[in-house]
Amino acid sequence: MPDNHRSRLLIVSNRLPLKVVPGTDGKATFEPGSGGLVTALAPVLRNRGGTWIGWPGVNAEQLPDYLPELMEQAGAKLGYRIRPVSLTQKDVKLFYEGFSNEVLWPIFHDFPSLAKFDPAYWDAYRAVNRKYAEAVAEHSRPGDFIWIHDYQLMLVAEECRKLGVDGRFSFFLHIPFPSLGMFLKIPWRTEILRALLAYDLLGVQTAWDRRNLMECVRSLIPEVAWRGRGRVASTSLEGRDVRIGDFPISIDYRGFMRQAKNQPVLQMVQAIRKNLTGRTVILGVDRLDYTKGILYRLAAFHNALVRYPELREKTTLVQAAVPSRTGVPQYKRLRARIERMVGRINGQFTRPGWIPVHYIFRSLSREELLGYYRAADIALITPLKDGMNLIAKEYCVTNVDNDGVLILSEFAGAASQLQIGALLVNPFDVMGTADAVYRACKMPANERKSRMRKMRAAIRKQDVFWWVDSFLRSAIAKDLSGFPALDEYSPLTPAEAVET
Ligand code: UDP
Ligand code: G6P
Repeated sequence: MPDNHRSRLLIVSNRLPLKVVPGTDGKATFEPGSGGLVTALAPVLRNRGGTWIGWPGVNAEQLPDYLPELMEQAGAKLGYRIRPVSLTQKDVKLFYEGFSNEVLWPIFHDFPSLAKFDPAYWDAYRAVNRKYAEAVAEHSRPGDFIWIHDYQLMLVAEECRKLGVDGRFSFFLHIPFPSLGMFLKIPWRTEILRALLAYDLLGVQTAWDRRNLMECVRSLIPEVAWRGRGRVASTSLEGRDVRIGDFPISIDYRGFMRQAKNQPVLQMVQAIRKNLTGRTVILGVDRLDYTKGILYRLAAFHNALVRYPELREKTTLVQAAVPSRTGVPQYKRLRARIERMVGRINGQFTRPGWIPVHYIFRSLSREELLGYYRAADIALITPLKDGMNLIAKEYCVTNVDNDGVLILSEFAGAASQLQIGALLVNPFDVMGTADAVYRACKMPANERKSRMRKMRAAIRKQDVFWWVDSFLRSAIAKDLSGFPALDEYSPLTPAEAVET
């Protein structure tokens, strides 16, 4: 086993896998954090042990005095150490809602018109990244595998080096890396790229993201020359080797399979199906985020009901929208638009005993989520752009009867691996997506099964433990020539092929 398989794992991400919930009686409890990053990393730490550094989800001003004890308790339950980083109300406003979610998130997902380049956001981003670096300095020791995650924390390695932390730093970006044209819009673009090069290994989700990042570096920092043609490329910088590779993240296949067969999940399936007997259930589950394409999806469902009247009274769309970043104006506006559109579709088509769209606006428990996955005949997952989209993988893995259909956006990172069985759609093409819905409703059982089996086999082969393993191995491998090129590993989606 390589050394890094034995060293202590230190995970640093903006959000911890749990959220502190301040109570009215001055006491606080905690609930699980949501989002793909937490779902993917939690089983890794459970499996290997280690430390997770991050924000407990509420302002420092609202945190209880006994936070350290609360975190100890949580860590004991989870099986690894939890070390909180406190963010003040101002940090949350300027660093989290501001720079992270009003600059980086829209630009990295190709929504430049939603970006707000406020210089105060950048100052806060640097200061809070410094805060995380200080936490790394406090909780790490030489030899740890220090692994920093996602767009909120791109400057941490650079800050750690300034603080004299002795270690090797790895980074994984869970969201897409934008094209050069998009990235150039950021006023602090060169500072960000230079900070990324302070990491020893940079991991991204797809070959497309890797090419974009390498091209941005080539263009803005011309002294850097990349070597290597496979999945992992490298360069030498100030006597250090910097590597960059694509590693598609995944889920705990066995864990999800096991849970999908649990009694509470089966009871949930029965309860969901009770009121939908004889109907084809189409499911959408997303954080309420403009990147997820919920409005286009509703438009496609509406279009399918208009153009294929036989779907009326026979098909129900269940759309769960998990509240997210509610302090950011774009998210508030989107919620109002989604709810108006659901109202319009239901107003036009509802008949006695049939409501076309069932809309849920809250977080779901794990049992409920898995219940919906298992109850759904079709998953309609149509992000306009997404780093990976774990919902797509979770739907397939929990589909233990192999009879569901996945309709998936070609702009989700997951499309590379799942195109072998999914119906790929361009989410901006409302009529094309409506046609895919119709095709999915009519798909014969043998085709459904054969497509679903292929996707489940692909996820089983490359689950989240495979992902960690391949990341750790490339962090320490001496020779990179053994890493396969993307083509050997998964074919290009139509969207990727255009970029190539
Ligand atoms: N999820 C959650 N709470 C919910 C519904 C979903 O935590 O109420 C989880 C779901 O299991 C999945 C993640 O949120 O792992 C969403 O990940 P994805 O990669 O699809 O998108 P992200 O939200 O990270 O952009
Ligand atoms: C995506 C991001 C994560 C983030 C999650 C939830 O998965 O890649 O970094 O944690 O969304 O968003 P939030 O803003 O609530 O942390």
